[in-house]
Amino acid sequence: MSKIIGVIGAGTMGSGIAQVAAQCGHSVYLMDANVEQLERAKTGVSKSMDKLVVKGKFTVDQKSNIESNIHYVAGLEALSPCDLIIEAIVEKMEVKHAVFSALEKIVSSECILASNTSSLSIASIGSSLEKADRVIGIHFFNPATIMPLVEIIPAVQTNESTINEVLTLIESWGKTVVVCKDTPGFIVNRVARPFYGEALRIYEEGLADFATIDWAMTHFGGFKMGPFTLMDYIGNDVNYAVTESVFQAFYFDPRFKPSFTQKRHSEAGFYGRKTGRGFYQYAEGIETIEPIKDEIIGKIIFERVLVMLINEAVDAVFMQVASVKDVDLAMTKGVNYPKGLLAWADELGLNWVLDKLSNLFDEYGEDRYRPNALLKRMVKNGNKFY
Ligand code: NAI
Repeated sequence: MSKIIGVIGAGTMGSGIAQVAAQCGHSVYLMDANVEQLERAKTGVSKSMDKLVVKGKFTVDQKSNIESNIHYVAGLEALSPCDLIIEAIVEKMEVKHAVFSALEKIVSSECILASNTSSLSIASIGSSLEKADRVIGIHFFNPATIMPLVEIIPAVQTNESTINEVLTLIESWGKTVVVCKDTPGFIVNRVARPFYGEALRIYEEGLADFATIDWAMTHFGGFKMGPFTLMDYIGNDVNYAVTESVFQAFYFDPRFKPSFTQKRHSEAGFYGRKTGRGFYQYAEGIETIEPIKDEIIGKIIFERVLVMLINEAVDAVFMQVASVKDVDLAMTKGVNYPKGLLAWADELGLNWVLDKLSNLFDEYGEDRYRPNALLKRMVKNGNKFY
């Protein structure tokens, strides 16, 4: 019998996750404390399903079956028959603790209790449970209906059967699943930091403007969007908050230091597309800013950001956050990087990457640029990632 899935929080993520589960034939209980939000979620799911019908992915009958599989509920009690519950409410530990602790009194002892948190520790969320071996992180990417990647994060309390059950289930939903340690930013939000941070730093040094840095990354790197376009898309408020939380969570490691430029843009309300202005202006009639297409400068910018990204990917492997394969999968399937960073490093030559980083480290004398010990070791031993 198909498992019954509960989702708490019918916002951006929760409604997408509920839709994914319903599309895979599950009966889903989508709960939100805000009744109006439940209505909005219902309309949102229906519109999203309409698009899938137009695309030919589902028939009209299937759409109506899928929609009737989702039960919109306003109280936690309705989640009592669930086998797995994924929480996607506000990113506040005390609220999550209250919800998990209340939930445990309602569900069976076998029910797996998961969080879609982007930045909080799964171990801490689990500490509110009596039976904490069933807590786990199941981190979807936005929009959950489209993005293929899901990071699975076992906490120190999680037992093997919970991990295996969740892996099998989420894979059966057609998602690309990676497993990672319960550490700040998991894989994607940790490894991707230099894409934004180093680009901002390059701008702050006056080496190039936003448009030129974006051009360098798309032209030489094949990234779908440059860092500033992407930050405007994500929202400077959201992206800055993630950077700051990762920086704090890593005990203020200078590798993750946030940027004043982004902070000021965020403080000014220049969030990006959603407010009509971020690093760029989006009002109609505003001329687009042309990059200065200097091949030499462009290449310097691209290579500097890329080696910083690779260094971070290497660190995730070195610190056993995830396997080589999963780190590369996470970046290609979670944030659409054109290549896995470790495969890219092999292709460029690890000694070339190490040279670039060592030059930056020598020039700046900042800990931010220190080459990873695993990279040094691999170069010394003539090893490759694949
Ligand atoms: P959102 O603000 O769109 O939705 C949160 C929903 O939770 C709201 O509808 C709110 O009414 C409801 N809620 C709040 N407290 C509640 C409670 N005590 N009981 C029941 N419902 C409650 O938030 P969003 O963006 O969907 O994020 C939810 C979670 O997913 C957060 O933990 C976030 O870190 C994580 N996440 C967000 C991503 C994103 O791009 N937005 C990506 C991946 C994870």
